[in-house]
Amino acid sequence: MDRVTVVTGGTAGIGRAIVKKIISESDNGGDLVFAVYGHNDELAEQLRNELPEADRGKLVLIKADLSDYGSTGVIKSAVSERADHVDWLVLNTGVGTYEKFENYTPELWDRIMRTNAGVPVFIVKELEDMIADEGAILFMGSHSGQATYSSSLAYSVSKAAAMFAARSMVKLFDDRGIRINAVAPGFIETRWQDSRSEESYERINKKIALHRFGLPEEVADLCYHLLTNGYVNGSVYDIHGGYDYF
Ligand SMILES: NC(=O)c1ccc[n+]([C@@H]2O[C@H](COP(=O)([O-])OP(=O)(O)OC[C@H]3O[C@@H](n4cnc5c(N)ncnc54)[C@H](OP(=O)(O)O)[C@@H]3O)[C@@H](O)[C@H]2O)c1
Repeated sequence: MDRVTVVTGGTAGIGRAIVKKIISESDNGGDLVFAVYGHNDELAEQLRNELPEADRGKLVLIKADLSDYGSTGVIKSAVSERADHVDWLVLNTGVGTYEKFENYTPELWDRIMRTNAGVPVFIVKELEDMIADEGAILFMGSHSGQATYSSSLAYSVSKAAAMFAARSMVKLFDDRGIRINAVAPGFIETRWQDSRSEESYERINKKIALHRFGLPEEVADLCYHLLTNGYVNGSVYDIHGGYDYF
């Protein structure tokens, strides 16, 4: 059977690396990878052009704003147009904020909780009947959802919720052999770090045993392993280079 994957936030950073990894490992011309993004058409098209020509037909781009619950229906109908099932669902989209606590508003809090935790859960609900038996669902968490960071309160709480949702949903799918896991990356070299100063890099690298930020491809390798290993279920996997090990 052709393998069908949906990766949210699949056009940049970690999600882009996951899409490329899955496509590079695919030797079946019928496999499809749906990459969902919200805003940047140029980046999405660039992704297609970066793929080997023979693989470009495996990529299907879906534009949908995942800060809105209505986007779950957009994803379902776009996927249904091209496929009758989903093998792997990677819920990778995530947004953060640098707002200070005194500037928090209910709207900001809700948008972050919705995008990072609420909408991913409802994407699972929307696609539930399409997910193949023995398929796999992967939530993108964060190390900051495991430690306590007052400087990224809303983000950390939303990521803790996403990782807890992953583990809490395992039982819902046990009769179909569908596995649900989460990944908790530390500091990864994506556009999130674009405005980081040298001083900030140095300060953080001192707290990482490997003294460097991770690469999106390193997270993508772990994700691919979790999608393909048939016995990993209900787990949260850290990938942070040895962060805060003194
Ligand atoms: N980078 C890190 O250090 C780090 C560490 C721990 C966890 N993570 C998590 O890893 C995931 C990916 O992070 P990243 O650093 O790779 O991010 P990124 O480079 O900013 O990529 C984010 C992706 O999500 C899409 N996206 C953002 N907002 C969206 C929305 N409202 N609707 C639909 N798509 C949206 C973006 O496309 P558009 O721009 O076109 O919308 C893009 O494809 C996130 O869940 C993040 O929390 C990252």
